[in-house]
Amino acid sequence: MEKVLTFDFNNMMSGMVGKDGISAQQIEGVKAKALDAHAKVAEQAGKGWQGWMDLPYNQDKIADDIIDCAKEVRAKFDYFVVLGIGGSALGPSAVFTALKHLRYNDLPKEKRNGPKFYVEDNVDPERMASLLDVIDAEKTMFNVITKSGATSETMSQFLIIYDLLKSKLGHKANRHIIATTDMQKGNLIKIAKKENFKTFYIPDGVGGRFSELCPVGLLPAAVLGIDVKRMLQGARDMDGICKTADISKNPALFAALLMYIAMNNGKNISVMMPYADSLRLVSDWYCQLWAESLGKSADYDGKLVYAGQTPVKSLGVTDQHSQVQLYTEGPFDKVVTFLAVENFRNTVKIPYGFEDVPDVSFLCGSTLNKLINTELDATEYALTKAGRLNFRITLKQVDEYSVGQLLYFFMMQTAYCGAMLNINTYNQPGVEEGKNATYAMFGKKGYEAKKQELDSAPKKDAKYII
Ligand code: PA5
Repeated sequence: MEKVLTFDFNNMMSGMVGKDGISAQQIEGVKAKALDAHAKVAEQAGKGWQGWMDLPYNQDKIADDIIDCAKEVRAKFDYFVVLGIGGSALGPSAVFTALKHLRYNDLPKEKRNGPKFYVEDNVDPERMASLLDVIDAEKTMFNVITKSGATSETMSQFLIIYDLLKSKLGHKANRHIIATTDMQKGNLIKIAKKENFKTFYIPDGVGGRFSELCPVGLLPAAVLGIDVKRMLQGARDMDGICKTADISKNPALFAALLMYIAMNNGKNISVMMPYADSLRLVSDWYCQLWAESLGKSADYDGKLVYAGQTPVKSLGVTDQHSQVQLYTEGPFDKVVTFLAVENFRNTVKIPYGFEDVPDVSFLCGSTLNKLINTELDATEYALTKAGRLNFRITLKQVDEYSVGQLLYFFMMQTAYCGAMLNINTYNQPGVEEGKNATYAMFGKKGYEAKKQELDSAPKKDAKYII
């Protein structure tokens, strides 16, 4: 197995950051809990909502079908549009940005060597209208992704697109839709069968935010020409690494344990800060995973715990000029996770010129590669000196294998942390209230009582509206 990720937890420790840091005694104090979490996660692997832990092992055959389908899509279509939201959108976006050219859609066709790619995860009318301005629906394959097959946002997008396709293509409209959904449950599967859509299935026990390594993520990635089997290999190898109960050798377990202690010490914010544009949307994906999985009011014993840590996305070096002031001098309530890249896919030299200007001369003859990583070292140093908890994950390079490892690492870290917190990592009851209120306001059948409840809710006072 190739070592492509390095985890450096030094700056989480009191020896480095002082009184706010974590001591060896604190680690000892929660070791038993971490080992218990490890055992529980291992015991549940592949069962219930931990079906995602089987994905690195059981998707190879499906990947063959996906690769065949992707070949056809790449040959026949100029645009590929994902319609989905949450876990049905963030993974495809993250992997696209991580592994393809950073200005992929702007490249000429022969350099792109694949369809233009869009992930539509909002119902902003201007966004939908703007999409339709830049694609040609007749040359587009739409991938409707929804595990539940009931998500209003995705289904409304589907209705708009399918209506448009039918108006342009009549009975051939169905050849422009691929449905990715549950094999049995939900509306999309019923529609897919009726309309004869090409369909891929989201396996049982795989929730949205844990679904990147099944057809949800694999099909869009394969359409982009990404080696999905290599991604699965990366995930498989990270799973192998996480099999050990030796905390010092299991990075996901160690990271979960440290985050658990940090949370208990009032570190309520988890900043994800890649120093690479390619990993920018891995932060978005992580934010959903960490927030929806760990943000729970009650634990398994029914005790009110109000667990979780607010994830924040940040980009190095860009946010050094926006957020880092707060991270260094604001409240002691954050853990910063740096994502570093050792070998970028490009080297850009900084040329000589204006050597007589001291503010620029020291840059001359160097590279942007050296500059970005030096700025990371410097920011890490500044945060550590200011007593702020941080740790660093270094990717040897950003490729299918390392990204597969990285995503799987975060899923394992989340699973372990959820088990340590004794909460249900896999549900999202806090999202339901808003969903149900939308249904009621939109007049969905069966939500009449909710509508009455909404109508009798306290009215807003005009004096607070200016
Ligand atoms: O993680 C989750 O389960 C959610 O965030 C879902 O991904 C999101 O709500 C979309 O759900 P669905 O795939 O059912 O449309």
